[in-house]
Amino acid sequence: MPFAFLDKDLLDKNISSLLNRAGDKKIRIATKSVRCTWTLRYILDHHPRLQGLMCYSVREAAWLATEGFDDLLVAYPAFHSEDIREIVPMLKRGKRIYLMVDLEDHLRQVNQVGREENVRIPVCLDLDMTSKFPGVYFGVYRSSVNNKEKADMFFKTLKKYPFVHCRALMGYEAQIAGLGDNVKGKGAMNAIIRNLKKRSVKEVALRRKEVVALGQRQGVEFEVVNAGGTGSLETSRQESWVTEVTVGSGFYASHLFDHYKAFKHLPAAGYAIEVVRNPQPDIYTCLGGGYVASGTPGKDKTPIPYLPEGCSFIENEMAGEVQTPLKHKGGKLELGSPVFMRHSKAGELCEHFNELVIVSNGEVVDSVPTYRGEGQCFL
Ligand SMILES: Cc1ncc(COP(=O)(O)O)c(C=O)c1O
Repeated sequence: MPFAFLDKDLLDKNISSLLNRAGDKKIRIATKSVRCTWTLRYILDHHPRLQGLMCYSVREAAWLATEGFDDLLVAYPAFHSEDIREIVPMLKRGKRIYLMVDLEDHLRQVNQVGREENVRIPVCLDLDMTSKFPGVYFGVYRSSVNNKEKADMFFKTLKKYPFVHCRALMGYEAQIAGLGDNVKGKGAMNAIIRNLKKRSVKEVALRRKEVVALGQRQGVEFEVVNAGGTGSLETSRQESWVTEVTVGSGFYASHLFDHYKAFKHLPAAGYAIEVVRNPQPDIYTCLGGGYVASGTPGKDKTPIPYLPEGCSFIENEMAGEVQTPLKHKGGKLELGSPVFMRHSKAGELCEHFNELVIVSNGEVVDSVPTYRGEGQCFL
């Protein structure tokens, strides 16, 4: 200890329920929420509908391509020519890789590299899926293309860039996929969020449909129309023009994804810290443990004690840099025994550990490297 673990049996169950939730849609795996090539292969091998990876950096996509992965959609833009150039050898070897774009500056940069390398570089338009309601910006700030008119302009602009090949569209409805609507003790807020989600679903579906049609009219042949994330499978799958949905967090099921009304996944991954002190009868202090997640700072970004049951944080300390004191009711914990914790965000767990200990039937069966364990750090 400390070590990170992945329970293969729970992962299997999560994969099955995610396949069910996605209906007949293909599922692209969001690598940011996995960050371990063993797990990526394990998931991809599970079912033919699990297909392709959504990467979070071009350097990562280039590395994964050399590791034998294919069909890589880089979901966030690359700007510098050196980064864009990374994927060119892989494209020339026949790998399917798409770069994300939404501004003409992106197109110009990609086109320049394509011209220098004499290759048409496949790109994906990122369509903003925010819903704007009176007084509420229901969504995230990512793409500049947030309506049909801008999308139409984008498709027209493409014609100026012969080394750019637009083959994909991605619309990530973060406000539906990534926002819990069943948070304990937040009844009124949950009701508001569920209502906003309901309204947003209709609106974003129409936007995606219209933009696909616009692109097709401008001669774009979409190989991929990507939608959603773990929290939106039930709605994203309903759009016939969507060819695939994305899932990342649902595989490990980190605790941010405990708070959705429509589904429950099982806590497949987490980490163990060791009890090293017992300053008061019911207080046990563990070594390490302070792996707080990114995003708006708040209690939902701290890890949570998982097993043994009955552990809770000390409000003034929470999960600490080198020590994590826990209150435990319900029996003595021995020095040297583990306390299992769950991370808030799935993939970030792997940034703190070189290995994932694979558990099955309550026993350790293997240990596999994370991205970090393979010496890879992208963001
Ligand atoms: C573009 C995009 N698609 C899909 C997802 C969904 O990932 P997850 O299933 O891990 O929530 C994300 C998460 O941020 C994303 O940025």
